[in-house]
Amino acid sequence: MRVKNICCIGAGYVGGPTMTVIAQKCPNIKVTVVDINASRIAAWNNEELSKLPIFEPGLDEIVKDARGRNLFFSTDIDKAIDEADMIFISVNTPTKTYGKGKGMASDLKYVELCARQIARVSKSDKIVVEKSTLPVRTASAIKNILENTGNDVQFQILSNPEFLSEGTAVNDLLFPDRILIGGDNNERGQIAIQALVDIYSYWVPKERILKTNIWSSELSKLTANAFLAQRVSSINAISELCEKSGADVHEVANAIGMDSRIGSKFLKASVGFGGSCFQKDILNLVYIAKTYGLNEVADYWEQVIIMNEHQKNRFSNRIISTLYNTVSGKKITFFGWAFKKDTNDTRESAAIKVADNLLSEQAKISVYDPKVEEERVYADLEYLNSRNPDDNRELLTVQTNPYKASKDSHAIAILTEWDEFKTYDWQKIYRNMIKPAFVFDGRGILDIKKLEKIGFVCYKLGSGN
Ligand code: UDX
Ligand code: UDX
Repeated sequence: MRVKNICCIGAGYVGGPTMTVIAQKCPNIKVTVVDINASRIAAWNNEELSKLPIFEPGLDEIVKDARGRNLFFSTDIDKAIDEADMIFISVNTPTKTYGKGKGMASDLKYVELCARQIARVSKSDKIVVEKSTLPVRTASAIKNILENTGNDVQFQILSNPEFLSEGTAVNDLLFPDRILIGGDNNERGQIAIQALVDIYSYWVPKERILKTNIWSSELSKLTANAFLAQRVSSINAISELCEKSGADVHEVANAIGMDSRIGSKFLKASVGFGGSCFQKDILNLVYIAKTYGLNEVADYWEQVIIMNEHQKNRFSNRIISTLYNTVSGKKITFFGWAFKKDTNDTRESAAIKVADNLLSEQAKISVYDPKVEEERVYADLEYLNSRNPDDNRELLTVQTNPYKASKDSHAIAILTEWDEFKTYDWQKIYRNMIKPAFVFDGRGILDIKKLEKIGFVCYKLGSGN
């Protein structure tokens, strides 16, 4: 079967870039991305490419190429579903904030709504592709809804998890390590898998397209993210030991990374991993393991999250203890708020928790991030619900200039590894700060020796000297 018309529900960080690349690479397929959020769709349709709703290096050029030709962004979800042969579900699946599995299980409310809408609208056979990361066996729930509420049309469900990493999404999509497609082992299932293989084959070498059963595909996504997060927690655990023992975590990471069995990637000690996926996916894994009564398995993976929380708290505690055990009324500047560089995404960013801890000690915080908007910062803090939103606005300001942000502050904390921080005139920053002036490098990106020569008192995460 040859797919001519694709619909993707969810125009977020995953749906938007993924569909843009599919549209660019498959000019004969019409791709329509739909979303219930009208302002998000309007932003995707904005003539000014700098106003796209998400920032990803290289994305604007591809949008320009494909938009209006075979790539469309719309709020007319019913129409797009009706016309499509293949529907991607790419809506968010946040951790549940209520009821059974609260704080652990994924909230599948949006996925279920999508399935019901697809069932209601469809008049012809469809292939439904899970793009959102989902707990294992979600496909069977979707299948159930589609088959029992549909208008007697045939649905095939595939799992096709996304491995793109924010900030490098375009490159990850253009040159993926692998594409994973899970489906049913019967004839219809195999035809559906092949239809999706044919799409990716436009630009991905055949040997990189893996076909598995649907549960393996769902579980592989959770496992991949759990392994990656585990590496960060492992090196972060060592970073604390380095500080106590006089070792340097960057040297240790380099030394172990040269062992080809270990590999050099994902060994950067940091103030903690963030992003919409790592924590959520591990919590999911923990929840599933608990559901099956596998308590040791659950505890093992939960420790990755416990370590990550510890790292964030450890960083804010270090700031407080270094500033003579009181930060009340002191201005502390944050360079970076995004969960990593080259994205405006702040979900689960370590900066949020560190700020929250310091605000609880009545510090005054001034935030500068090259891509994050002021209201996003306040919304992130409000979501934690730790204090009155007015207090957040009184104690924390967001600046658009790093020199202004750091003026008259006691300390600068590096929360995101933006490259531009390395190029600043640190002499000038030093002159305008209150002395002694402190730098807390939570990402290990600055040349500490140079800063110390200027006069800064420095803390570099993971460095014992
Ligand atoms: C999301 C999930 O977080 C991730 O687990 C999954 O792998 C892919 O989908 P992301 O694209 O980063 O990732 O989420 P987000 O940027 O929040 O985008 C989801 C979009 O879906 C939003 O624009 C939202 O408005 C839309 N949506 C949500 C719908 O169109 N319909 C719904 O019913 C719910
Ligand atoms: C991740 C996965 O990499 C991707 O495959 C999946 O599809 C979605 O989740 P993403 O969350 O965009 O992607 O970012 P990633 O580069 O994995 O970083 C996650 C967090 O870990 C960031 O906060 C990052 O700063 C941190 N990190 C990463 C470290 O602290 N140290 C490292 O060595 C690597």
